[in-house]
Amino acid sequence: MENGSPINIKTMSSAPQGDTNPKGTNIVWHEASVDRQSRAQQRGHRSAILWFTGLSGSGKSTLANAVNAALFEQGLATYVLDGDNIRHSLCKDLGFSDSDREENIRRIGEVAKLFLDAGVIVLTAFVSPFRADRDKARKLVDVDDFIEIHCAADLSICEERDTKGLYAKARAGEIKDFTGISSPYEEPASPELKINTGEQSLDSCVEIVLKTLLNRKVIPAKHQPVS
Ligand code: ADX
Repeated sequence: MENGSPINIKTMSSAPQGDTNPKGTNIVWHEASVDRQSRAQQRGHRSAILWFTGLSGSGKSTLANAVNAALFEQGLATYVLDGDNIRHSLCKDLGFSDSDREENIRRIGEVAKLFLDAGVIVLTAFVSPFRADRDKARKLVDVDDFIEIHCAADLSICEERDTKGLYAKARAGEIKDFTGISSPYEEPASPELKINTGEQSLDSCVEIVLKTLLNRKVIPAKHQPVS
């Protein structure tokens, strides 16, 4: 960090804890020689998972991308995992049944954990409507590493915006299991942040997130890119 103070990350083995029940047998975990602590030290900041959750159209992707841009500008290592994009690749075999959503979020939780280990601040923007699935993702990592951000725009506002025209289709019965209309959204009980993305400006939402990252010492007060 800029004042030379060490970045303390609780040493945790990246080896999976508990019974992960791999299908394959004769698999032996290989510890990496470069660990998360050394990456944080070299880069001057720790990594974290910023888990944006909320209804479709609540502004998750917009906010995650704006925060990402602000962090990138400060020279920090960041990456956005976005629901619509990931569903074109890693999760293109999944639909919107409860079990497909569960698998979607399970995969993203694991991928986010890899980014965490790689020293990157990873921002995930998925509806992630089920509390149990989000909580499973949270439990994959240390308590300080997971920041759940509820983009709490009212359904009426998301529906009014209807940026992708999906709410109209869902109301017309052309899309089934649509979150907020014909499939539930379970609000986080105690997210690290709840932001009214329906009413607040994008700039003020970004400020709130950045302030939280500063307070939690995820990002240093002023980070100069390495020239
Ligand atoms: S999640 O529920 O599994 O977390 P995810 O974030 O990956 O969903 O994808 C949600 C995006 O897919 C929405 O922003 C919307 O554009 C699109 N989508 C298409 N069908 C649905 C549906 N039935 N419910 C919610 N979103 C849908």
